[in-house]
Amino acid sequence: MSQGGPAAAARVCSTEAQSIAATIARESGVRVGRSSLRLRNPANDGPAWVTDWLRAQGERPAAGVTGIERVEGSVAHVLRPIPVEGVCVTCHGPADQIPAEVREVLSAAYPRDRATGYQPGDLRGALWAEVALGPGRVVEPQP
Ligand code: HEC
Repeated sequence: MSQGGPAAAARVCSTEAQSIAATIARESGVRVGRSSLRLRNPANDGPAWVTDWLRAQGERPAAGVTGIERVEGSVAHVLRPIPVEGVCVTCHGPADQIPAEVREVLSAAYPRDRATGYQPGDLRGALWAEVALGPGRVVEPQP
C-alpha cells in the first residue's frame, strides 16, 4: 500500500493470498484460510465449521465476537474474528469510498465481488486454521 498505492496492493493480494495459504498447507500440514459471509474470492469459501460460525454471527459489529479453539475428534480448529479497520475501507468500503483505480482492479479480478460496503468496526469474517492431530502431536485444548 505505502509503496505502490492501493491498486497495486489489490493486485498483490489477488495473486498472492491463495498461494500463501497453499504454501503453509504444504509445508506444515495446517490448512489456513480467510473467509466471510460476503466473499470477494469464491475460493475463500471455508470448511463447514467455519461457514456455520459465520452464519451464526451474521452481519454485525465485531465488538464482543469471540473465536474458537477446540479439538473435534482428531482435528484441531482455531478461528479468530476479523474486524474491519480504517485501512480496509480502501478496498472493502462503500463503492464511493474505493478509489476508481482500485475498483478497476477489483472488478477485473473479481467479477462477483461481494466484499464491499463495510465500515470500520464491522465483522468482516474469520481467519481459520485446521490441523489433523497425529501421534506425537500434543495440543492443549483451551478451556
Ligand atoms: C489493497 C486492497 C485491500 C485492502 C486494503 C484490504 N483488502 Fe481484503 N482483500 C483484498 C483482495 C484483492 C482480496 C481477495 C484475495 C483473494 O483472492 O484471496 C481480499 C480478501 C479479503 C478476505 C478474504 C475473504 C474474501 O472476501 O475473499 C478478508 C477476510 C479480507 N480481505 C479482510 C480484509 C481486512 C480486515 C482488511 C483491513 C485490515 C483488508 N481486507 C484490506 C483487497 C484488500
